[in-house]
Amino acid sequence: MRPISGIGALAAAALVLFTACGEPTPVARVQGEPAGGTKATITIYASPTCGCCHEYIPYLREHGYMVQEVPTDDVNAVKVDLGVPKKTWSCHTAVVDDYVIEGHVPIEAIDKLLAERPRIDGIALPGMPAGSPGMNGTKQGPFVVVSFGHGEIEEFLTV
Ligand code: CU
Ligand code: CU
Repeated sequence: MRPISGIGALAAAALVLFTACGEPTPVARVQGEPAGGTKATITIYASPTCGCCHEYIPYLREHGYMVQEVPTDDVNAVKVDLGVPKKTWSCHTAVVDDYVIEGHVPIEAIDKLLAERPRIDGIALPGMPAGSPGMNGTKQGPFVVVSFGHGEIEEFLTV
């Protein structure tokens, strides 16, 4: 996470919700107001044409999180910016507090992350497994959510 500086700082300051250090360079404007429940606000970067991403957003809201959507045509740039390891990439990328949440991560893992606040960069459910939150199909096996940070990828929670 690096501070924004110079011209970038002026541009960033002009954009609501991009005032904190460590937010990725905005590649698209936020859409609408955050909506959802009383838990933390999750900012989600997703392509406007991604169907499963837009199934995942109501899932988060139903489980009490506020969600702010940021449509972007280059979600991979966001992943690179946030340091998400390529082998864990999925469709959308989200940020809550200082953590990255990559892909269709089940709510139990997000709750655990925010309750325990480990010294990691984020968590991911790699790929887009069938039957995971927001994904169609039948669950084929356990979902192994991994953590990443400090150059390591480790099992975080299996559900
Ligand atoms: Cu997806
Ligand atoms: Cu997605």
